[in-house]
Amino acid sequence: MSTANPSLTYANSRIDAEMQAILDRYLPGRRPMSVDDYDWKTIRPETVDRDFLEAVGFVTLVEANPKDPGGQIIKAADRSNAPWLRRFITQTWLPEEGMHHAPFKEYLIRSGAYDEGFLDDEIAKVVDRGFVHGAGYSELQATTYGWLQELITWRFYDSMRDYLLFQATDENPADPVMVKILADIAKQENFHRHVYLTGAKTVLKHQPERKGEVVTAVAEFLMPGHHMAPDWQPKAPVWSEKFNFPLKGVIHDIAHGMVELTGHRGLGQAAILYGARNHIHWYLRPIVALLRLLSLPPASPVNHLAGRLIARAF
Ligand SMILES: [Fe+2]
Ligand SMILES: [Fe+2]
Repeated sequence: MSTANPSLTYANSRIDAEMQAILDRYLPGRRPMSVDDYDWKTIRPETVDRDFLEAVGFVTLVEANPKDPGGQIIKAADRSNAPWLRRFITQTWLPEEGMHHAPFKEYLIRSGAYDEGFLDDEIAKVVDRGFVHGAGYSELQATTYGWLQELITWRFYDSMRDYLLFQATDENPADPVMVKILADIAKQENFHRHVYLTGAKTVLKHQPERKGEVVTAVAEFLMPGHHMAPDWQPKAPVWSEKFNFPLKGVIHDIAHGMVELTGHRGLGQAAILYGARNHIHWYLRPIVALLRLLSLPPASPVNHLAGRLIARAF
């Protein structure tokens, strides 16, 4: 189903044809999850601790408003003449993301962790806050943001699931419903990650001069929860430690994805810019500030060297 849109440039239509072919292959047959997919009689909330339930509360909230980020990505797709990205968001991403909060919410209500009124009030606040990232982004910046966000979300759900399985014993088996919810959602997040990363690679294959857009999107990346659920997000480091979130593996994936997209130079530049813009411990700050000065020209050998060191470390 390749597009014959005359307003697309040659490079855009090549990118679009390749991505539409990938979507043709993967999208048919996908379906959003439903609360009815789970056997609610079998839940075992007594096996789940309070920290875990709070983490489920947090992800229920950040999953509850995909319309705002989806709208931003559609705007980015239209701004950049990328019909494939509009198709992915409208046909798959929004319908799938639109259901992620539903089984979590059902679980929290049935387990008695939170009542429905409290969750609905918190969700209303999340919807009010909206989504602040990516205003004015190109399709390449939006897919870069999406790649990182989906990667971290996928791995977070996997670590929650592994935590439940690790805690389980023969006498006290893990809650089968929560294990299945986490597995089902994680699988979809991983698919979204794959499409975004493939999209970014395909754009750069045809327009390699646009690597700088990936660098800026990575350098200013923040998980959406900081703005969407600011009262809950500060507990994320506690949860990631408790669930054994694979931070090193995630950094490895980001570093190697960046090398594929932008080369060592782009990875080094993004890391240095990220360090200069975000909270860094005082003992590293002078080094980051110095590196930032040295890194300003995009072709600086410092960027290349920093990128090589990071890629080798992970
Ligand atoms: Fe999601
Ligand atoms: Fe997702």
